[in-house]
Amino acid sequence: MNKIITGNVLEKINDIEKKSVQCVVTSPPYWGLRDYGDDNQLGLEETPEEYVENMVKVFREVKRVLKDDGTLWLNLGDSYINQPAGNSNLTFSKKQKSNFGSHIRHKKSTIGNNLKTKDLAGIPWRVAFALQADGWYLRQDIIWHKPNPMPESVKDRCTKSHEYIFLLSKSSKYYYDKDAIAEKTLTMDNSNRDRDNQKLNNTPGRTRMAGLKTNNYETRNKRSVWASKYDDIEHESKHRQGMHKARGEKIVVTRPLLPTQEEFIAFLKKRTNAKSLANITDISLTTVEHWFRKDNSGFSYPSIEHWNEIRNHIDDKSYQFQTIDNKMTMVSHHTDEIKIKKDGKNRRSVWKINTKPYKEAHFAVFPEKLPELCIKAGSKKGDIILDPFFGSGTTGWVAQRLGRKWLGVELNPEYIKIANKRFQQQELFNAV
Ligand SMILES: C[S@@+](CC[C@H](N)C(=O)[O-])C[C@H]1O[C@@H](n2cnc3c(N)ncnc32)[C@H](O)[C@@H]1O
Repeated sequence: MNKIITGNVLEKINDIEKKSVQCVVTSPPYWGLRDYGDDNQLGLEETPEEYVENMVKVFREVKRVLKDDGTLWLNLGDSYINQPAGNSNLTFSKKQKSNFGSHIRHKKSTIGNNLKTKDLAGIPWRVAFALQADGWYLRQDIIWHKPNPMPESVKDRCTKSHEYIFLLSKSSKYYYDKDAIAEKTLTMDNSNRDRDNQKLNNTPGRTRMAGLKTNNYETRNKRSVWASKYDDIEHESKHRQGMHKARGEKIVVTRPLLPTQEEFIAFLKKRTNAKSLANITDISLTTVEHWFRKDNSGFSYPSIEHWNEIRNHIDDKSYQFQTIDNKMTMVSHHTDEIKIKKDGKNRRSVWKINTKPYKEAHFAVFPEKLPELCIKAGSKKGDIILDPFFGSGTTGWVAQRLGRKWLGVELNPEYIKIANKRFQQQELFNAV
């Protein structure tokens, strides 16, 4: 176990034992995107149909080696049609090892002869439907949201910032550990958290916090994943605890130093009475009377606004007045306390994961987080994880880190070297 099989997946997958694999996490070469430098490579088929057909063949074999309750997590990106049908000059030379871009030039298309220049080829869904037709259960389309997408110089559509991960299963019931990939949730409790009033952005004379500054941001093309203004739950939590009033959040203002009821009534009675206060202000007598009430339920303190209206009338320059005035006007701001709940909510179908270049590889490698989520949900420790398009071996590496066994198939010996080096480096690192 834990080995890379060198060769064409369509042949080499036969070396893997039937029903031995619990979970497959893979990213086949996208249609028309890149030349991996081998005649047996998949992805350079001339038409979408040929590509889809090959994918069905590969995953039919994958199904054979998958356990009955196993899952396939299939990452696919899309491409645009760049040349009109009929261009027969397309050759992918060995020199073209780098990225072709996400635009395919293709010979001819037979998909209803419908594909025109500028059309989105719709490859992920074509593959997904073909796999469904071949007997797979198509359980979910997960959107991989890339906050750092490849720049595109387009002016008539959004910049593509997503790909698909299809969750497919061999049977209607399959192993899936929802708790292993549960998301953190926010909840409110009723207790208030004291905030240092002095730090509030809206305190007169204080420097406003950077987050509330008005910035003139340069614009960029709208991306194809439209999310809420919060990047994620942590971002939202911080934002909210930072006391920025958002999403109907309640900022609670309290007066923590208020004098006791007795102290306040005694103070007030020494200087004035309800009728004269009502007379000299616009405040109704009924309201003012509450400030003098000895019974708990009937008593209330003047609001800060009302206090500011009456304070000049009862200001006797005394020490007592200063003390009461301070106590009446001192305010503290609180927000609702945000707590992270221990048992999270079921993971949502949009996964926000930055792409991460792997310096050794010339092709797109998985960011570790992506196979990590699939493996955690799709397997237990000790299970076998397969990536039939192993590349630099991210799936295998993450599987190993998570205590699973792994198998990989890879056509290009150069990439196998990269993968092996990665494992060796990591083992050295672990040994230190
Ligand atoms: C998108 S890359 C996979 C990257 C991988 N997920 C990683 O994290 O490094 C696709 C890989 O499929 C390999 N490949 C292409 N055609 C193949 C074939 N017929 N059999 C086996 N591997 C193939 C390519 O050489 C390439 O390494």
